[in-house]
Amino acid sequence: MKVLVIGGCGFIGSHIVDSLQAAGAAVRVLDRRPEAFREQLPDVEYNFGDFSDPFQLLEALEGVDAVMHCASTTVPSTSNVDPVADITGNLISTVRLLKLLRQMNIKKLVYLSSGGTVYGIPQVDPVSEDHPQNPISSYGIVKSAIEKYIYMEEQLHGLNAVVLRASNPYGPRQGHTGIQGIIGTYLWKLSRGENLEVWGDGSVVRDFIYVKDMADICVAALHSEKRGCFNAGAGEGASVNEIVEAVRVATGIDFQPTYKASRAYDVPRIVLDIDRAKDAFGWAPKVSLVEGVAESWKWVQSQSRAAR
Ligand SMILES: NC(=O)c1ccc[n+]([C@@H]2O[C@H](COP(=O)([O-])OP(=O)(O)OC[C@H]3O[C@@H](n4cnc5c(N)ncnc54)[C@H](O)[C@@H]3O)[C@@H](O)[C@H]2O)c1
Repeated sequence: MKVLVIGGCGFIGSHIVDSLQAAGAAVRVLDRRPEAFREQLPDVEYNFGDFSDPFQLLEALEGVDAVMHCASTTVPSTSNVDPVADITGNLISTVRLLKLLRQMNIKKLVYLSSGGTVYGIPQVDPVSEDHPQNPISSYGIVKSAIEKYIYMEEQLHGLNAVVLRASNPYGPRQGHTGIQGIIGTYLWKLSRGENLEVWGDGSVVRDFIYVKDMADICVAALHSEKRGCFNAGAGEGASVNEIVEAVRVATGIDFQPTYKASRAYDVPRIVLDIDRAKDAFGWAPKVSLVEGVAESWKWVQSQSRAAR
């Protein structure tokens, strides 16, 4: 099987590439830029270009059996600044991708959506796939709209697609821009000797999934005949204060975070119900938060050493 990974040089995409190779697939990547934290892999075919460019996309799709779409030009916190750019860069480009898949008779697609944003403010705990979708960011609205176009393509033209609504992936190769991913941000800050900040009282709860578990569900979905939308998370919540403690244990550094005013857009708690994905794919997350944070810290330290 030859798989095109769109966004394969990103944080999650790079781990999907690893898991695909481990499963014996041939891999081509389409990305705007090389990986930030490692050299190009010898057995991966890299196409550097923009997936919103139909010609570059067409070239990248030539000869592949399946597509894993894990590119996004926005994150939740930036998407509201320019929703038009969000719609153009993500929704329109993905609708164009769907048309090309149909024209090229490529039937299998796995798409990374977002369990943290498509549902909006949760009405139940944990949140299952049947929860109403009322996103409160452009990012979530665009993800939700893409899901619906994928569904339309399945119904009308026989696409065989899986949408994975990822919770909060963390782990090695998570960047340190500080705009997404509290665990990565905390570890990078500690490696630079900086103090950590907590918005609010630290009681906000999120569902954190180790990135290798996330990559594994992507590959399981790719090889499955199942279709539809599936939550992809740990199925358990951890508060920011629990993250702070896990980081303290993993790093062995004693620090006192600075508590700041809470942010209006942080919903108090969101945890995903992952039973549907477990049943469908015979998959389950394997890495505990403590183990995952420890692995992530080892990686951050190796990067800091290499930079010195
Ligand atoms: N990281 C998270 O917390 C999280 C949570 C839920 C869902 N997701 C989704 O998972 C997917 C992967 O996220 P990530 O954290 O690995 O992001 P990332 O930014 O690390 O990786 C995305 C990759 O896509 C590439 N890319 C973006 N726009 C492109 C374009 N127009 N053409 C070609 N390449 C392009 C980027 O260069 C980057 O390498 C995204 O769809 C994201 O919305 C991420």
